[in-house]
Amino acid sequence: MIHDVSEKILARMQYLEEEDRIDRENETPRLERLRQIPPETGQFLYLLAMMAPEGQFIEIGTSAGYSTLWLILACRKRESLITTFEVLPEKIKLAQETFYLTQTSKYVELIEGDARVYLPDMKNISFCFLDAEKEVYEECYDLIIPQLVTGGLLIADNAINHRETLQLMLDKALSDKRVDALIVPIGKGELVCRKK
Ligand SMILES: C[S@@+](CC[C@H](N)C(=O)[O-])C[C@H]1O[C@@H](n2cnc3c(N)ncnc32)[C@H](O)[C@@H]1O
Repeated sequence: MIHDVSEKILARMQYLEEEDRIDRENETPRLERLRQIPPETGQFLYLLAMMAPEGQFIEIGTSAGYSTLWLILACRKRESLITTFEVLPEKIKLAQETFYLTQTSKYVELIEGDARVYLPDMKNISFCFLDAEKEVYEECYDLIIPQLVTGGLLIADNAINHRETLQLMLDKALSDKRVDALIVPIGKGELVCRKK
């Protein structure tokens, strides 16, 4: 159980969980769906984010800001900020609504665009949550790992439910001598890498 979640954040999380459930039931077209992490993954991310060393927090794939809210809970306690990237204008609108309604805008910088354009300039990353199109995972991995501080964490979603598509990237991470890495069977499967 994660404590100290404000009523506004809890209400928005519950709303987005319900929207995500409806999306899945109605077979809403893929690009229109929220495609969120489940709450247990959110709690896992929060705990890891609380343990991350000092440095920049980033997220690749904001959607409506559900996973961002879990990371913002850690940022609030750490008095820090998360930079999150999203390409789709409709998702950006929803995320802006999420941060406005939960009064969390001061903990988040939402960048509208392809994260791969910005990643080369992101230094001292201490925590990254990667949850975008699976085709960009390996490229993002290659851009992020050199920028992670010692002890910094890269968490990638869908390591189990999209294992086949991600196999090359997962093999690379699991044999990469720059990190210690493990796939954790929570939610859709989280690849956890810690920079040595
Ligand atoms: C699985 S959803 C993210 C869900 C979100 N992390 C959550 O759990 O609430 C993936 C999102 O990544 C966005 N995306 C895909 N490729 C991207 C890229 N290269 N840069 C930024 N956003 C990207 C998609 O538009 C989509 O909204």
